Order: sequence, then structure tokens, then C-alpha cells
Amino acid sequence: MIYSGKWDRDGLDYKALRNQWHVVAREDEVGADTPLAVRLLGEDLVLWRGPTGINAWKDYCGHRGAKLSLGCVRNGEIECPYHGWRYSDAGRCVKVPAHPNQEPPAQRLVAVYHATVRYGLVWVSLGRPESDVPVFPEWDNPGFRKVFAGPYRYRANALRSVENFLDASHFPFVHANLNGDPDNPDPIDDYEVFKDPQGLRTSEITVFQPYGDHRGIPVTAHYTYHVFQPTTAYFTKKTGVTERFCTFLNATPADEDETVLYLIVAINFGADLTEAQILDRQDRVFEQDRRIVESQRPYRLPLDLREEMHVRSDRLAVEYRRWLKSLGEAASAVGAAPPAENEPSRSTSYA
Ligand code: FES
Ligand SMILES: [Fe+2]
Repeated sequence: MIYSGKWDRDGLDYKALRNQWHVVAREDEVGADTPLAVRLLGEDLVLWRGPTGINAWKDYCGHRGAKLSLGCVRNGEIECPYHGWRYSDAGRCVKVPAHPNQEPPAQRLVAVYHATVRYGLVWVSLGRPESDVPVFPEWDNPGFRKVFAGPYRYRANALRSVENFLDASHFPFVHANLNGDPDNPDPIDDYEVFKDPQGLRTSEITVFQPYGDHRGIPVTAHYTYHVFQPTTAYFTKKTGVTERFCTFLNATPADEDETVLYLIVAINFGADLTEAQILDRQDRVFEQDRRIVESQRPYRLPLDLREEMHVRSDRLAVEYRRWLKSLGEAASAVGAAPPAENEPSRSTSYA
């Protein structure tokens, strides 16, 4: 199927994503007084800071449907830009300026989603997350320097983008003379893929890289890949006895064909190198990937394995597709979740 223009919410890919956590912004992008508009799984959301932390709501005022993200935050309440109605962070209308002496309508048309902050990033789930935000193994280890890269914006599907991140056999071609030699591409030895409650992980995959990292030196790199949830992937890259270059990738599905990639790298060597040197290499690599991933058709990742050809080095991608399919099927079996207590009620009343 070519891009349909909006998410097919009956699709197993959508179902596999709805209940998981997604990164929608860096924490410092959400100002004290200024709401932030973001998009997730085809829905417009507003992020705003209330007395109890960052809220993620549907970007919609229940009075006449204006976008709350065009408004402002005053005294811990969000004010709609159209008629100035105010909402508390409990999702209740608390002020109607046109009727200051009247009790505001009790009807709740605000959709409140799960939101939390971790690793300097704002995470949101539109559904019911079954587990916590994934663990970033090096985050609390002071021996690893952390650098935020991106966000990179792809006109492509998030699952295609993650699969690209998990793919070692494209290195010599897409990242020629950085991550591989196009005239002498590494054969990929067989490797294992393990599935456990933390998702998928591989045994080591070894490749030669002419410009292996921000130091600009050739390395023999030993990659171990993990997929913690469908759009959170990670690798550890060993390039010496103790040297580790780790990346924690979140591919946010803004829409079916629109992805925002948030990356944090964790490195325990090269302390003399600048952040600009680290970012320069990441930016080049992700730009090289962008033009390929944006070219892939269909936009959506085929979860039926018969739709594309696979070889042994694609084993992680094959297991990833199988896993996504099973997550989508499991979500289907549960059926449509009843509305959460914080989702809008539609009982009619007016004041
Ligand atoms: S549309 Fe929001 S106050 Fe009227
Ligand atoms: Fe790549």
C-alpha cells in the first residue's frame, strides 16, 4: 500500500505502537509559559507545564475546537487563545471569562495522555503503557559522556527508520568510507537474535570501519543491537578492550510517513574531542540514511515476510518484523481499550 494520508488504525503496526512510550520533545523545549505543539501517531498534542509537571493533552479546546497550543500558561493553568477559557492540569475547565460569576461547564472534553520526563526527554503514551520507559543502560554511569544528537526529521515511516538503524549490511554503501568500504564490503557472519522481556538483542556483529567514529580512525567494530520497544533501539559498539560507543535511538512516529529521530550517544573514550566533532559525524550518518529510508516503498514496514526478500544477515530485521506483528496481534486480542478515566466524557450538558 502506498501512503494513505493517515494512519490505518486497524493495522498491526499502529496497534503495536499505540500503547508504548514515545519521545515527543526535549524537556527544555517546553517553556514555563508557552505550550508546545507536537504530533504523535497522527494526533496533534499540546505539551504544557502545570503545577504537577508536564502535561500532554489532545491539542483541542472543548468549547469551539481551537488549538490550545496557540494559547498560554497562566498561574499553572492553560488558557485557550480563542475565548480565554482556562483549564487546570486535572483537565477541568476552571474559568470562562465571559461569565466570571458562573460555574464553568463540568463537561470534560479534554483528552489527557500519560506523560513523563526521562533522560531530558518528554515521553508520552496515547494508550495504556504496559511497562515503564525503556532503560538507557549508560545514563547513570558517569564514565560515559552523553551527547544529544538530532532531532532528525525523515519523511518516512518510524519502523522503516528503526529497521535501518538495526541494519549492518548497508554500512559500506550508504556510509561509504565511514562505516564500510564499498569496494570491499564485509561479509556479515551469522549472528543470534534473542527475545526476552526487554525486547530483542543480538550477539556480536563485527565489521571493519574506515572512519569508525568521531576520532576519524579505522576500527574493527563489534556491534550488539537491542530493541527495547518498537521505536526505541540501542547499540553498544566495542572498538577496543574498554572503548564503548553506545547510542539510544527513539524514532517518533509523528505520522505514518513522518518520523522524528531523537538520539543520545554515550561514549567512554575521546574526552578530548569536542561535541561538534561527535555531532558532525552523527549528522552525516543520519543524513545519508535519510535519503535512502525516505525512498523506501511502501512507506509502512511490511509485517508479512513474504512481501520482501530476506537473507541471513537480515535476521534481526526478520525477528523485528515478527515481533511487531505479534505485539500488534496481542493488542488486537485485548480489543479496543475502554476509555481511561482521564479521557473525555461526552455526556451533554451546558452552562
Ligand atoms: S474555543 Fe477555546 S475558549 Fe472558545
Ligand atoms: Fe545507516
